[in-house]
Amino acid sequence: MQTSPTPAVQRIGVPTETFQGEKRVATVPDAVEKLIKLGFKVAVESGAGDGAHFSDETYRAAGAEVLPDAAALWAASDIVLKVRPPNSDEVALMRDGGTLIGFVWPAQNPELMQQLTAKNATVLAIDCLPRTLSRAQKMDALTSTAGVSGYRAVIEAANAFGRYFNGQITAAGKVPPAKVFIAGAGVAGLAAIGTAASLGAVVRANDTRAEVADQVKSLGGEFVKVDYEEDGAGGGGYAKVMSEGFQAAQRQMYATQAKDADIIITTALIPGKPAPKLITAEMVQSMKPGSVIVDMAAEQGGNCELTVPGEAVERHGVTIVGYTDLASRMAKQSSTLYANNLLRLVEELCKAKDGVAVVNMEDDAIRGLTVTKDGAITWPAPPLKAAPVPAPKSAAPVAAKKDSHARGAPMPAKNLAIMFAVAAVLFWFVGAYAPAAFLGHLTVFVLACFIGYMVVWNVTPALHTPLMSVTNAISSIIAIGALVQIAPPEAGAHGRPDGLILWLAFAALVLTSINMFGGFAVTRRMLAMFRK
Ligand code: NAI
Repeated sequence: MQTSPTPAVQRIGVPTETFQGEKRVATVPDAVEKLIKLGFKVAVESGAGDGAHFSDETYRAAGAEVLPDAAALWAASDIVLKVRPPNSDEVALMRDGGTLIGFVWPAQNPELMQQLTAKNATVLAIDCLPRTLSRAQKMDALTSTAGVSGYRAVIEAANAFGRYFNGQITAAGKVPPAKVFIAGAGVAGLAAIGTAASLGAVVRANDTRAEVADQVKSLGGEFVKVDYEEDGAGGGGYAKVMSEGFQAAQRQMYATQAKDADIIITTALIPGKPAPKLITAEMVQSMKPGSVIVDMAAEQGGNCELTVPGEAVERHGVTIVGYTDLASRMAKQSSTLYANNLLRLVEELCKAKDGVAVVNMEDDAIRGLTVTKDGAITWPAPPLKAAPVPAPKSAAPVAAKKDSHARGAPMPAKNLAIMFAVAAVLFWFVGAYAPAAFLGHLTVFVLACFIGYMVVWNVTPALHTPLMSVTNAISSIIAIGALVQIAPPEAGAHGRPDGLILWLAFAALVLTSINMFGGFAVTRRMLAMFRK
């Protein structure tokens, strides 16, 4: 993407965001240093980082030029990094044939797309990144933004809620923990679950995609199922629109949760569709006075019927927060993460580290997010080539054979027979020449090895830790040795053991008891984590 006849080093420019109330900035001083190491020149509009607490001085110290205003910045920049889509005034300032990287939302902004093509622009829309490509995760600004927003949603809820999140027993009385219900366990929902759980609340969550249930549990929440059999997965990690029957069952479940919950955080969304209405006016009315709803989907119409986008309002004694700028309310954090996402993208564009970005349309990730190239609309990108689907186990005899030595696979009968034959010959040999006592000990030792091997081999690797703690407990068989020392069977003949031996035996008994009971307790807790 050369903007001048000679492939000169390009300048990356970062303007101040003009959207009302937007405090984020597209790059931060740490990222500036790394962009310069890639060979680029970097310019920042004066005051661009103020909202996120990055002063002009810190950008200068990182090696950026600070330009006085937007006109100077856009005119000087070959590549512009932005957060929000540019408005028409900004597009007018853009260089002909320039490059823009940021959120663009081409489906929602057809007019902007036309303006950008008129400028012969190359536009990389970070919102169009193919998120299912694992290689693209480092550039996934939607995920980093939603993570920050989910966290902030809980903080906003805590701010509007007049009680503790965690349960407490104080001299002044007992405080029950807050009950938080999260609708939609995507990126923002999972971040909200983790945050609310870490503050000590009792967290429940629901999603139409059953596959997220384990993630909800692992973050400390309880997954609440809708009593209706239907899978909500619509492909690519997103949901699909559910049937009427499911929606009716879901409404019933949400009505029950609304009566019980102190805080509801809604994040339910299906890309390209208006947000599903999950919390009705009656449900709001049924909530306890002082309860809070944070509707993260406010910008897409809201998951709650009474949400006012951009505002916090009180309805039926319930505070309904419909802020659409949650990420901007944590501008320093979200700008830093966003700057890192864009830095990773620029690294992909400039593998030669020569300060010249190359848009390689053969690269799946880059192709996905390039929505215009030199003035031609290239959006939407063709679907990604499907990853090879692993063959089903029953249809893959070759793979099964190869895998037969994997953990969990039974040992082939032939190998087992050979092992037994070798062991029998060895025993005959040892029996013929070694003392009788040795043969007894060896038999016990070999059998112990064999049983231990068979046990471990047949246990799923995920369960090896609980297995270790239970074997640890069993190893406390040492306790029997200690008991024998304390009260030897031959005590009658030889009298009581001397004091030192007695105390050592007592200490061994105490320690092995800790090992034994602790081992079983830890095993029980670990196994509970695997129980569905
Ligand atoms: P996501 O697509 O990762 O998650 C949405 C989740 O909702 C998915 O897990 C999906 O399965 C679930 N869902 C869809 N329909 C449902 C239904 N009927 N019932 C239950 N669950 C359902 O999206 P992400 O990134 O987590 O964002 C969530 C929402 O937050 C979106 O609306 C997004 O636009 C919004 N958002 C709002 C911000 C703000 O400042 N207010 C900032 C960032 C995101």
